[in-house]
Amino acid sequence: MASLPEVSDTNAAWLVEVDQVVQVLDAAAITGDVVELAAGTGTWSIHLARCATRLTVLDGAAATLARNPVVGQPHVVSVVADLFTWEPDRRYDAVSFTFWVTHVPRERLDDFWARVARALKPGGRVFFVDDRASATDAPHVVAADGQLMSRELDDGRVATIVKNFYEPDELCDAARRAGVELTVGSTPRYFVYGFGVRTAG
Ligand SMILES: C[S@@+](CC[C@H](N)C(=O)[O-])C[C@H]1O[C@@H](n2cnc3c(N)ncnc32)[C@H](O)[C@@H]1O
Repeated sequence: MASLPEVSDTNAAWLVEVDQVVQVLDAAAITGDVVELAAGTGTWSIHLARCATRLTVLDGAAATLARNPVVGQPHVVSVVADLFTWEPDRRYDAVSFTFWVTHVPRERLDDFWARVARALKPGGRVFFVDDRASATDAPHVVAADGQLMSRELDDGRVATIVKNFYEPDELCDAARRAGVELTVGSTPRYFVYGFGVRTAG
C-alpha cells in the first residue's frame, strides 16, 4: 500500500501552489480602485492591498471583516453587504473574489457574474481563486452531495455549505454572458484561478 505523504510535504506542496497563484494575481494587474467580494478574514486582501490605490473589502459578516488585517489601512474601506442582493455603488477598475465562487449556487451563477460585470468599468479586470475538486479529499469533509458539502468543524459539529466545483467552461461561459472575457487555469492539485477583462460596456 502506498504510504501517505508527510504533512510537511503536503504543506510544502500547498505553499508552492499558493505562490503560483500569487504570481497569477500579480500578472492580472488588479490595481487602481479595487473591490474584493467576500473578503473574509483577508488572506488575499493582504495581496490586493499592496497593489490597489483604493481597496473596498466587502463581506456579509461584520465580525469577519473586523478580523481582516487590512481594515484600518488608509486606502481600505469595508462594506457589510449580502452579495446576492448587493448593487455596486460605482464601477471599479477591478473585482476580486477568493474562495467564493464555489459557494455560489448554480441557479445564481449568471446573476453573480452579471453583478461582477456591473461593478466593472469597461476594460476593468477580474481575478478569482478557489478550491479544485480535490478539496473534497480533505479529511474534514464528511459528505458531498450535489451542490452541498458537509464539513466537520474543530468542535465536532458538522456544517453543511454550498460547494460547487464548476468546470472552467461553465465559468467562462457564465462570465461571457455577462460581458467578461475570462481565462481559467489551475495549479497541479489545489487551486483553480481565473483572470479576465470586462469587454462589454
Ligand atoms: C470561504 S470564505 C472566503 C473568505 C476569503 N475570501 C478567503 O479567501 O479566505 C467565504 C466568505 O464569504 C462570506 N459570505 C458568505 N455568504 C455571503 C453573502 N451572502 N454575502 C457576502 N459575503 C458572504 C463569509 O462571511 C466568508 O467571509
